[in-house]
Amino acid sequence: MSLVQDAVQTLMKRGIALAPDSWMPGGEPDPLIHAKHGHIGKPVSRIDGPLKVSGQAKFAAEYPMQGLTYAAIHFSTIARGRIAEIITTEAEAAPGVVLVMTHLNAPRLHHAPAFGTDAKAASGDDLAVMQDDRIHWNGQPVAVVLAETQEQADYAESLIRIRYEAEPGFTSLEEARAKGAEPGQFQGEPLKLEIKNAEKLFAAAPVKTDAVYRTPGHNHNPIELHAATLVWNGDELRIHDATQAVAHAAWTLAKVFGIDEKQVQVTSPFVGGGFGSKTLWRHQILAAAAAKVAKRPVRVVLSREGVFRTVGGRAITEQRVAIGAQQDGEFDAIIHTGLTAMTPHNTMTEPFIVATRSLYAAKSFKLEVETVKLNMVANTFMRAPGEAVGTFALESAIDELAAELGIDPIALRLRNEPKEDPTMGLPFSQRGIVEAWRTGAAKFGWDERSTTPRTCQDGEWLVGLGCATATYPYYRMPGGAARMTVHSDGRATVSVAAHEMGMGTATAHTQVAADRLGLSLDQVDFRYGDTTLPGVVLAGGSQQTAAVGASVAAAHRALLTELLKLAGNDSPLAGLRPNEIGGMDGALCALADPDRRESYSSILSRAQRDEVTVEAEAPMPMEIQHWSMHSHGAMFCEARVNTVTGEIRISRFLGSFDCGRIINPKTAASQFRGGIVMGLGLALMEEAQFDERSGRIMNPSLAEYHVPVHMDVPEIEVIWTDEPDPHTPMGARGIGEIGITGVGAAVANAIFNATGKRVRDLPITLDKVL
Ligand code: MOS
Repeated sequence: MSLVQDAVQTLMKRGIALAPDSWMPGGEPDPLIHAKHGHIGKPVSRIDGPLKVSGQAKFAAEYPMQGLTYAAIHFSTIARGRIAEIITTEAEAAPGVVLVMTHLNAPRLHHAPAFGTDAKAASGDDLAVMQDDRIHWNGQPVAVVLAETQEQADYAESLIRIRYEAEPGFTSLEEARAKGAEPGQFQGEPLKLEIKNAEKLFAAAPVKTDAVYRTPGHNHNPIELHAATLVWNGDELRIHDATQAVAHAAWTLAKVFGIDEKQVQVTSPFVGGGFGSKTLWRHQILAAAAAKVAKRPVRVVLSREGVFRTVGGRAITEQRVAIGAQQDGEFDAIIHTGLTAMTPHNTMTEPFIVATRSLYAAKSFKLEVETVKLNMVANTFMRAPGEAVGTFALESAIDELAAELGIDPIALRLRNEPKEDPTMGLPFSQRGIVEAWRTGAAKFGWDERSTTPRTCQDGEWLVGLGCATATYPYYRMPGGAARMTVHSDGRATVSVAAHEMGMGTATAHTQVAADRLGLSLDQVDFRYGDTTLPGVVLAGGSQQTAAVGASVAAAHRALLTELLKLAGNDSPLAGLRPNEIGGMDGALCALADPDRRESYSSILSRAQRDEVTVEAEAPMPMEIQHWSMHSHGAMFCEARVNTVTGEIRISRFLGSFDCGRIINPKTAASQFRGGIVMGLGLALMEEAQFDERSGRIMNPSLAEYHVPVHMDVPEIEVIWTDEPDPHTPMGARGIGEIGITGVGAAVANAIFNATGKRVRDLPITLDKVL
């Protein structure tokens, strides 16, 4: 990780002087920020909506192929040890079976580089894949069956018999802790930060809170199961994958099979939810390996249990938050430290302190994450890794301190609003959190809250209001690139290897490209989800919109230059420079004099061209070095707790966001709501029940691992400031993950207000409030 990080840092330092982009240090904001009458900001319905509701949108497991075989995977039942004997004869003889693959007959494969160890690495872990008899976690794939139908594959898989030799491992947090914790790292940097002597200032503070908060492991449950349909054509692999990282998947698969990344074509035009889970795991690698052995195309669709066994989730955390304050509420010390679990063979530390670095001013800080290693499936990114669970602890602690001080919890937060980033010392690119609190509180009716817990009752139900801050950083990763074509009929095609996982990518970027070009939405064709298109763009870190936006802006600049060249001296545009022209109503025109114009069709036909195509790379994300860039939200919850049964119902929820410019209010509202719904699950239901004796996840199904259903979700209101960030493309910051942050604490704080009971241990189930 640090190698990649170093390279990026060096490149960025070198690049600063060359920064071509207008929102960058020293430049002007993106002109699109101020475009008032364009497509940006309009609640455009999903352009992929009709395809989806009519069943024409093809997902990874829906591609037909000649001679397709179906895969079923057999999972280990011990956490550590070796396979002593594996009996496959019965499975091989079962009807329809084409291949039973184990470590004994799998092709030789290289290691799959783990996510973060290289710019394009996408694997959840870097263990050998079915190359030896070693078992590293309970649920590891140990055999793959290919058959003519899925049912035949599943049946044959059930006939595989394995004798294991178990070895002692670590499946208990306490035992792993006793062995010693290690420092945690995130994005190549240590998860440790100290400013002044926080323990000393905390001890001396007149008012304080000091508690431990616990969050369990969470499993990923996108509704579309992880799946791939793939075929080898000679040494070329064609894979229809469900992924949020097509370029990364291609590169990593190429490494595994010892071929060039250009020999792997990944397409993924529609993905039924990713949340951080749809990177590269065992199933794609094993399916490609089995396809090679069987010389047949393969479809693999993980069962729901298969997702629990082989796709990592969010790791367990145990967090101490201690805050010391003056009587007036000013913070002397913020201490946020603790422990999380990971495996010896992955790179993902759950970074629960990251939000605490920039939310509040304080005289001193002590932040640290330590890790212990367990024998379990490699944990990974899960919607707002770090912030989702970190804000539960921090924002519960703020509520506890507010109660201690007798200060309104919103007032306490605003009392400690920092003027600049409190730990980095950088200016904020834009921060409208105060406005978000003000408008949110007014809309929610915060003033009507009873400040004394357990004083508001409605029949059997105790009612309470709680709030918390949501936050997620602005990221933009290197590697963005875009291709732009203008056709002689005046239409345009914009291509980026980006992803549509249901969040509205295709719609939002059609709007952005149409505004840059001065075209209508139906004149723009946005292509994505295919490794033959330019760019290394991850749909993760809530950064895809910024990464694509910066790439399209760069391509558009190149396009203006090309079009001016083609227009030549006979055009009304003759003599103008690229920065003096813009697109409007299907034409290029002088910004200073829009009547001086020539249509795209006219320019191309005079030049006797069918089309003009340019390709450009986004500049390095220098903005992140210069500003502290974060989105925020003020989250409000009304909870009702039944005094007889302990049942908890969320009756109202409001999120008031400050995320820069909102490109599409319709898809954005869905993103925010979806995040909040997932946050309600985190608060009240989600828990991977990990058997500490065997290392086995005991509830690998949606019957036993609960996520919110319609009846669990109230009307969720979302509002936003829509204040553009002058230092981002389009003035927008990401919105994919922030919705889940702060929700855990807003719910816990509402339950405290309702019942007087402080629950510091997620999920908040009825036994904890009775
Ligand atoms: Mo997100 S957890 O970065 O897909």
